[in-house]
Amino acid sequence: MKPPDLLAWLRSRRSARRFLPRPVPAEAVDRILEAATYAPNAHNRQPWRFVQLAGAESRQAMLAAMQPGFEAALAAEGLDAERIAAQVERSQGRVLAAPEAILLCLDVDALNQYQDAERNHGEYLMGVQSVALAGGQLLLAAHAGGLGGVWVCAPLFAAKAVSAALGLPDSWQAQGLILLGYAAGEPKVRERRDVSEVTRRV
Ligand SMILES: Cc1cc2nc3c(=O)[nH]c(=O)nc-3n(C[C@H](O)[C@H](O)[C@H](O)COP(=O)(O)O)c2cc1C
Repeated sequence: MKPPDLLAWLRSRRSARRFLPRPVPAEAVDRILEAATYAPNAHNRQPWRFVQLAGAESRQAMLAAMQPGFEAALAAEGLDAERIAAQVERSQGRVLAAPEAILLCLDVDALNQYQDAERNHGEYLMGVQSVALAGGQLLLAAHAGGLGGVWVCAPLFAAKAVSAALGLPDSWQAQGLILLGYAAGEPKVRERRDVSEVTRRV
């Protein structure tokens, strides 16, 4: 692909939230994950970990671990019990229905360790940034393969409970969940602010 085409292609990626009930070939998932591992990352420590939630059992376990925190957050927003139940059901239904669900984790044991707390905090942020870049690359690789996907933030808010429910090492901290599949319909276009609005030249 020539550079102008590539730039237009980058702009054509959208978050897809509804999927056709069509399985994604295992080789396609492998290729997407491999592409994600070529993301730039701090010190080349490659702190990302991918957990393929292959079936209903692991997804149910993760959702059950997330549910109390999710309900509490919705209650804090002022929703009544009926609306909380409806929202939890809708959100869980989306995760269960997606053809592929990949939990994106940061392995804090893969990060450099320093004596200085501020430096360590910087390393932690770089770890989070590296995992996010892998997630972005994963979504682009899915797009390149004709698949749609969306990043779902919910596991971040129950990272410890999610790791325990899935039997993951304590050092694997959930950063997000990526749902993948063949998009059902055209995903909505989310407008961008003009680049001049978000850029300052000094
Ligand atoms: C860190 C992060 C967290 C997100 N969390 C959610 C989420 O919980 N649920 C959701 O439907 N979309 C989520 N998204 C997708 C964004 O809503 C989406 O990327 C944004 O609206 C721009 O739309 P586009 O991806 O179609 O360009 C998230 C994206 C990122 C990068």
